[in-house]
Amino acid sequence: MKQNNNHQNGTTLTAESLRIGYLEQVVIQNLGVTIQEGQITALVGPNGSGKSTLLKTLARLIKPMNGAVYLDGRAISQLPTAEVARRLAILPQGPSAPPTLTVSELVEQGRFPHAGPLRMLRRQDHQAIDAALQLTGMTNFAQRRLDNLSGGERQRAWIALALAQATPILLLDEPTTFLDIGHQLEVLALVQSLNRERNMTIVLVLHDLNQAAQYAHRMIVMQRGAIVADGEPAATLTQTLLADVFRVRAHIVADPESGAPVCLPYAHVEQHEKTTQNVSGR
Ligand SMILES: Nc1ncnc2c1ncn2[C@@H]1O[C@H](COP(=O)(O)OP(=O)(O)OP(=O)(O)O)[C@@H](O)[C@H]1O
Ligand SMILES: [Mg+2]
Repeated sequence: MKQNNNHQNGTTLTAESLRIGYLEQVVIQNLGVTIQEGQITALVGPNGSGKSTLLKTLARLIKPMNGAVYLDGRAISQLPTAEVARRLAILPQGPSAPPTLTVSELVEQGRFPHAGPLRMLRRQDHQAIDAALQLTGMTNFAQRRLDNLSGGERQRAWIALALAQATPILLLDEPTTFLDIGHQLEVLALVQSLNRERNMTIVLVLHDLNQAAQYAHRMIVMQRGAIVADGEPAATLTQTLLADVFRVRAHIVADPESGAPVCLPYAHVEQHEKTTQNVSGR
């Protein structure tokens, strides 16, 4: 059962009237969203629909052309960087770092917003780093260089970096990419326990709609830079949505364990139409 923790952790994230683009191209026209505290929100949508653009804007990595993001009611653009980094961590899609960096050096970076004078790591910093490595199963990889890791191990090192930041809000862009199914579920279970046990507010971009429906309290669906559906998974993951947004025909069944909707796609909309026309035309 998904629990929805109601006690507040005091960090809110909202966006109003966002217009976001790159050079000449406007990708998001006019978007507003309030991320609910203490919830897991899944951001889904086809490739190029603007998920990463939105997530990066929420984390202040992209400056919107219009509108604003508010962290605890204050415009994020006005806040000192370290203050933002103490409240909000982001794992971007396809992050990059110097390849010779070790896992432990990467994860240490997560403590700089908390560091004391001279950026010295203190006891609580080492504890947070060790805990992040442990939670992601990366303890034994701590001294390994990033360029000597498998894709999945590297992905987990980046998740450890975000966790070491120990923020009340965590934004994860496709945290399960490169992971085998076991490690995917491990990361999602970790997300769930961070939410339940530490009341963390988590927004994650996922391509697997069934995982989104199973782990998130809320699904936000994007298409061509706009939010086209937003709500509890059972109300959001519908046949109409799958056909309109993802262009697939699918059966929707209830997960026997959790009751969450599970979609079983069986055809691409256009191909399906062609096939059924051929059959009926014979
Ligand atoms: N740095 C950039 N410069 C120019 N255009 C960009 C840039 N990054 C993204 N875009 C464009 O913005 C649009 C939205 O991209 P975005 O990365 O937000 O999509 P997405 O939903 O995260 O897709 P995916 O599922 O493939 O990661 C796309 O048309 C993309 O080509
Ligand atoms: Mg993306």
